[in-house]
Amino acid sequence: MPGRVRMGDVMSQIPDRLAQVLTSDQVATTATPSQTNDWLGQPGGPVAAVVHPMAADEVSKVLQLASQLGVPVQIQSGNTGLVGGSTPPRNGQAPILLCLDRMTGVRHIDSDTGQLIAGAGTTIAEVQDVAAQHGWRYGVDLAARDTATIGGTVATNAGGVRVCAYGSTRAQVLGLEFVLADGAVVSDRPGLSKDNTGYDLVGLLCGSEGTLAVVTQVRVKLWRPPMQATTLALPVDGLVEAAALSGSAAGPGFSLLAAEVVDRSSWHAATLMSDRADPLAHSAEGFVLLLEVGDGGEGQGVAEVITERPETVVATQMSQRRLLWQLREIQTTLWSRLPGALHKFDVSVPAAELDALAAETEALTNRLGGRSGIFGHIREGNLHIQLVLPGHEDPTRELLSLVGELGGSISAEHGIGRYKSEYLDLRRSAAEMATMRAVKKSLDPQGLLNPGVLFR
Ligand code: LAC
Ligand code: ZN
Repeated sequence: MPGRVRMGDVMSQIPDRLAQVLTSDQVATTATPSQTNDWLGQPGGPVAAVVHPMAADEVSKVLQLASQLGVPVQIQSGNTGLVGGSTPPRNGQAPILLCLDRMTGVRHIDSDTGQLIAGAGTTIAEVQDVAAQHGWRYGVDLAARDTATIGGTVATNAGGVRVCAYGSTRAQVLGLEFVLADGAVVSDRPGLSKDNTGYDLVGLLCGSEGTLAVVTQVRVKLWRPPMQATTLALPVDGLVEAAALSGSAAGPGFSLLAAEVVDRSSWHAATLMSDRADPLAHSAEGFVLLLEVGDGGEGQGVAEVITERPETVVATQMSQRRLLWQLREIQTTLWSRLPGALHKFDVSVPAAELDALAAETEALTNRLGGRSGIFGHIREGNLHIQLVLPGHEDPTRELLSLVGELGGSISAEHGIGRYKSEYLDLRRSAAEMATMRAVKKSLDPQGLLNPGVLFR
């Protein structure tokens, strides 16, 4: 048909059209493997182009062009996600891959109020370092800190290992600069600690997984660093016990800074992988409870229920503390190296149901002839379950249904992304799903931002 624009024509024009609104060195026609593959090496699909905008006005130009041409946009920052939310989708129209890697750096820090503004592509480690140089602490910490970025952690409302002390990312964010699908730039970064003027759009964007807007700058609140901390590791029989102990681990007036668990086999495997002596006696049964208490670093703020147990390891030296943390933080890498098909879950259940979930996981693992392990953030009942199976069975629906029956959430930390989108209704009611779709439709009517993420 003469005059009709064909999709193939539009696609081939995209890099040139982008180079007209940006500069040619900000546009590539193909993605690199590190942009296409996720952290676990799972491949994504092709892209129409890759762009590296420097600021919100350039993101705006990209989104205006994408809206005009009807081309989807995949947002990518540190690409440490584990649910396929930051790589190009394998199905559907090839997107423009919008990388935040040139929107980096801390732009402003207010040492009096304890607030900081950073470009969305700034790593968590850099935010932490700059805060520390000014006598403050950023409340979110996670194993991927050197690569994960503040923008990505806003998109996923990342938790990490300090949630018990400071809350998840949403609890840190005081303001955002973001770009809507039609290119409108919204800047809500005044740093007001109190503001009751209608809907909390900043809170809405935290955890929206890039489906509602592109976050370009983030203002966070900072905390005064705690006292030096004591780190402890002790064996426990079960997870309900671990959760209860973590609740009473810090003595009156002292603060609990972390409460993590690792199953004992995985803990021991981590010592072998890192070629370190196991600080605890080796056992295949039960869990290691890793605690950190802000108490001056001499162990005096740790409750007797913890210190009086004969097997408790009390680490007051930095090198001992680092080793305990290393054995915990290496867990994701450890499990990703085992042969077989790896199925990862990031769930939470009420504290009373933790042992039931562990037992059901073990039963499922045995039935499928695989191996499984558990680590996670016990204070929030958030377990990272790793299941390695020899065959092609997919245990996801069974395991996540079980989590739902126990009153839990199918994602407590990593989000839904594309890998878990077909299970979202195990956690959300029909009314909630409809509400979320309505929000998506009003902010992104063409459905161009991160298509397939959250909603199938
Ligand atoms: C962790 C990541 C996998 O807790 O959430 O190590
Ligand atoms: Zn985690």
